[in-house]
Amino acid sequence: MRKTTLITGGTGYIGTHTALALINAGHNVLVLDNLCNSYRESIVRLERLTHTRVDFINGDVRDSILVDDVFRRYDIDAVVHFASLKSVEESVRRPLDYYANNFAGTLNLCATMARNDVFNLVFSSSATVYGDPTRIPIAEDFGTGKPVNPYGRTKLMIEELLTDLCNSDPRWNIALLRYFNPIGAHESGMIGEDPKGRPNNLLPCLTQVATGRIPELTVYGCDYPTVDGTCVRDYIHVVDLANGHLKALQVLQHRSGINFWNLGTGVGYSVLQIIHSFEDVTGITIPYRFAPRRLGDIAKCWADPSKAGRELGWSAQRGLEQMIIDTWRWQSCNPQGYQTSFEIPAPIEAK
Ligand code: NAD
Ligand code: UD1
Repeated sequence: MRKTTLITGGTGYIGTHTALALINAGHNVLVLDNLCNSYRESIVRLERLTHTRVDFINGDVRDSILVDDVFRRYDIDAVVHFASLKSVEESVRRPLDYYANNFAGTLNLCATMARNDVFNLVFSSSATVYGDPTRIPIAEDFGTGKPVNPYGRTKLMIEELLTDLCNSDPRWNIALLRYFNPIGAHESGMIGEDPKGRPNNLLPCLTQVATGRIPELTVYGCDYPTVDGTCVRDYIHVVDLANGHLKALQVLQHRSGINFWNLGTGVGYSVLQIIHSFEDVTGITIPYRFAPRRLGDIAKCWADPSKAGRELGWSAQRGLEQMIIDTWRWQSCNPQGYQTSFEIPAPIEAK
């Protein structure tokens, strides 16, 4: 039986792009997802892109009988764990769901891995674990801060759980990947971000304004101590992010214990810079209005990605213009997301 990489949450935004990167690099992948924030169609698109059958199990990482059965049926040697709820705003209203899904889900996954002698794990963490940093760019050795919402706290708790696990048993090889702000989509326009429900993140909101689904963009805060008063973030192309997982899996083959890596570009852009770049690339004017600061937002956040450069041999390759071209290609080819019947896209040139 061929060694398999299990991807939990693999029909989601980052999971689909990572599955593609892994398949293209010769991995045999198995996707486990309960589809609570994604669509089965992403597997169909992956199969069309790779000309390969992609094994998919519609199931929940908290279901220990099902997950145990998955480990018995497949020869799994590594897990990339994306399955998580990720809305900050929802986590404030429904903390129990977030702790149960994200924390208890990871607990069950790790217990099942250990029972089945699988000890290689790549985990989706977030820059949110740094809280409000006192210095930027943020390096891994700053240590973690205080995340300001339940979603962020589940990520920090899981990081601590996984660190304890590595300290307790030298067989564990774990990568904690701290993502900055993933945007963009695969250049084919066939896979991209399609969350269920109302989006809260900047790019999904911006593209909804561009397509006329919402009349104007709300820009939260214009009085931050930044270049133009709006918040600055480190936006990273999802394909670069996906490649970071491939590198982490390779490095875990000969590196044990707990490992922390920032996945960001090292460059920050303000909300207004993003809006103006989007307008330049697409030729579409984005109406926006300023509103008060959003609770929990920090002024500036970007990565020092040099540790990932040194230790993983990874760095982001795609700039902001590419991120916006690819976001817009995905959005315009798939106005209803994965519920759109797919047409081969015409090339989009920057204006
Ligand atoms: P996503 O919602 O698109 O993907 C998560 C997937 O997990 C979804 O397909 C969902 O259906 C699935 N899922 C959720 N709970 C599950 C469960 N109990 N069992 C099985 N499947 C389950 O999100 P994404 O943007 O692809 O994020 C992937 C991971 O990266 C998440 O852990 C998220 O917290 C983390 N992350 C994301 C960002 C971001 O901006 N997108 C930033 C930092 C970290
Ligand atoms: C948010 C979460 C973070 C999570 C990440 C990915 C908060 C405080 N942080 O990061 O924990 O890991 O998403 O899910 O929610 N903006 C607008 N108008 C909008 C939407 C956003 O002005 O309609 C601004 C925000 O105020 C922020 C920037 O755009 O300054 C980026 O926002 P967003 O995409 O939500 O990412 P983060 O807040 O950085």
